Amino acid sequence: MSKQGLVAILPGDGIGPEVVAQAVRVIESLNQQAGLGLVCEAAPVGGAAYDLHGHPLPPATLELARRADAILLGAVGGPAWEALPREHRPERALLSLRSELNLFANLRPAILFPELVGASTLKPEVVSGLNLMIVRELTGGIYFGQPRGIRIEADGTRTGFNTMVYHESEIRRIAESAFQIARLRDRRLCSVEKANVLEVSELWREIVIEVGRQYPDVQLSHMYIDNASMQLIKAPKQFDVIVTSNLFGDILSDAASMLTGSIGMLPSASLDAAGKGMYEPVHGSAPDIAGGDMANPLATILSVAMMLRSTFGQGGLADRVEQAVRMALAEGYRTRDIAGSQDRVVGTAAMGDAVLAALAR
Ligand code: IPM
Ligand code: MG
Repeated sequence: MSKQGLVAILPGDGIGPEVVAQAVRVIESLNQQAGLGLVCEAAPVGGAAYDLHGHPLPPATLELARRADAILLGAVGGPAWEALPREHRPERALLSLRSELNLFANLRPAILFPELVGASTLKPEVVSGLNLMIVRELTGGIYFGQPRGIRIEADGTRTGFNTMVYHESEIRRIAESAFQIARLRDRRLCSVEKANVLEVSELWREIVIEVGRQYPDVQLSHMYIDNASMQLIKAPKQFDVIVTSNLFGDILSDAASMLTGSIGMLPSASLDAAGKGMYEPVHGSAPDIAGGDMANPLATILSVAMMLRSTFGQGGLADRVEQAVRMALAEGYRTRDIAGSQDRVVGTAAMGDAVLAALAR
């Protein structure tokens, strides 16, 4: 690589630090073996940051995230911080990072590794070979729309309200990202909304169709969110790329993750317009197993692969990391979450060892 890239390492809470540690080993190993030249700099985020500095996203952490070319985040949240006021909760850090850094395009692939077909609750023929990509709008919609709040009425009763709002420019840029991604895949894009009821969705559909005129090689379809959630469970392989809004994408991506059997396997990328990104496993902080060397580090390691590909233009090294994960699985290494009754279960660090060994071959 020509210039040294800076990666902000934000381990966060629960199992975050354990899985991030294994992913950092992968980066360091590529630095040594392949001259990758990435510099890692760590900072606290989430509940851990609140405990240290009284805020889930301290100014120094945000400053590092701004300065970095990419961010690797573990997970945030846990029961210890649930009772805090909203602005001090760990999740707040995630939402602020997304909006402060303009990370509007959230890529959530759901890929089923052949070795893990048995881990899905769905029939093997429904899910085997599954490889779909959800492109979720991440900095707009009802998550950030104004007005929002809880209002006290004249009679003392309360009304809660949020606003689902999209400006056409926000729709256009996420649609463009999705069409470009579809072009690198099977060239099929399904836009998911609720245009039969919501005006915001009506505009969404109109703009997506307009953007689609520049991508005649991509087959565009439209689906309502209720039907899409049904189709995702019924026949998930009909989808190649799904593009959808912030809230619908949040819901659909959890459903999609379960098609693959384990949320412990799924990476994600949140990108800005220039390819800077925050990379994180889709799973949460899993406080029940934190500190026990039980968590699956593969989603975080696969997030490093996405980082290499999307931010640093190192597709070859990304392929090698993904290949190494596949080799570790093929050799029979399983963390608890992906183990069948006959499998030998290994811990977080041992799974990291297996991936590093495969990477060195
Ligand atoms: C996700 C999470 C977050 C979201 C929460 C933790 C704020 O569910 O990344 O999908 O709703 O976006
Ligand atoms: Mg979610």
